[in-house]
Amino acid sequence: MENAANNSDPGRLVLGIESSCDESAAAVVAEGRRVLSSVVASQVKDHAPFGGVVPELASRRHLENLAPVVKAALSEAGVTLDDLSGVAVTQGPGLIGALLIGLNLAKALAWSRGLPMTGVSHLEGHLAALSLGEEPPPHPFLALLVSGGHTSIFLVRGPGEQEELGSTVDDAAGEAFDKVAKLYGLGYPGGVIIDRMAAQGDPTAIVLPRPRMHDGTLDFSFSGLKSAVVRFREANQGADYRIEDLCAGFQEAVVEVLVKKTLAAAKQHGITHLALAGGVAANRRLRAALQDAAGQAGLGATLPPLELCTDNAAMIAAAGCHHLRAGRRLPLTADAISRLPRGGALPPEPAP
Ligand code: KG4
Ligand code: ZN
Repeated sequence: MENAANNSDPGRLVLGIESSCDESAAAVVAEGRRVLSSVVASQVKDHAPFGGVVPELASRRHLENLAPVVKAALSEAGVTLDDLSGVAVTQGPGLIGALLIGLNLAKALAWSRGLPMTGVSHLEGHLAALSLGEEPPPHPFLALLVSGGHTSIFLVRGPGEQEELGSTVDDAAGEAFDKVAKLYGLGYPGGVIIDRMAAQGDPTAIVLPRPRMHDGTLDFSFSGLKSAVVRFREANQGADYRIEDLCAGFQEAVVEVLVKKTLAAAKQHGITHLALAGGVAANRRLRAALQDAAGQAGLGATLPPLELCTDNAAMIAAAGCHHLRAGRRLPLTADAISRLPRGGALPPEPAP
């Protein structure tokens, strides 16, 4: 049974919990807008020796880290569980074992305090992060969501109202960065390393294919580009080329496709404002290219700060605030959902 004292506004003070991949995160957000605390325990060091996220290791780390992270988030916000009005948790998509740790912790907290609980799509969370910045993008806007797990263009009409216009049919953009970095033994996570090395390279020295650039859809494909890098490396064994040029050429191919398709989507749908979300939104070349292209087309652009782009739980609490206010509740029997259907939305919840 829900706590009667908190029934007036379930979105008043929401605890968000995120554990879909390799960050254990918790946050307290007031009114879906004011971040009172946002604590993230990154597992990057644990997975770095393997060159990618090891699912079983991620689950174990969440098990150790998540409860202390929730405690820290409450204490930094200066609140207790009794002050909360609701709990929001990432229900999917993500690593199933990792998701279950967060989901079960959220269930335990909500049940023990009689708090309403809601499940949030991780993708919707990334979009809601944009509303937490100093200058949120004006609705309607187009969001290019680019991370290690996702690459999609969303039309965002209002809070919690998004439509996926296109997405990757294979690898995500961040995944391609990470795989190319792994191929060359550059380190993990690869995106930030390639970003740094590309700045010292010539993007025209090694020209790689721009997959699906002119196919007329708003979908992406990056696995062919990764294969092109594999072929380039094999064909040039022993040849004298600069790895910085390869990084710059690869990055340029990814950025050009992302920016071209986002601009095409804006034109098709008559949208005048663009925004970036997800970890790859930290990429300096992508930020500059999107801003330039938007400027030339007379469109506005929001480039949020990095802490709002990468995985965090404030974005889950912000998205959860709207769900809670709309009466969406997750039953204690709910399961984590590893893969969401095209569109990135969670299935409708059963009536309480
Ligand atoms: O959003 P995020 O933290 O986690 C997911 O939901 O996947 O994104 C992580 C991804 C990784 O693939 C990482 O290599 C990439 O974001 N990334 C970058 C940069 N910083 C992080 N990619 C390109 N350039 C960067 N500066
Ligand atoms: Zn993410």
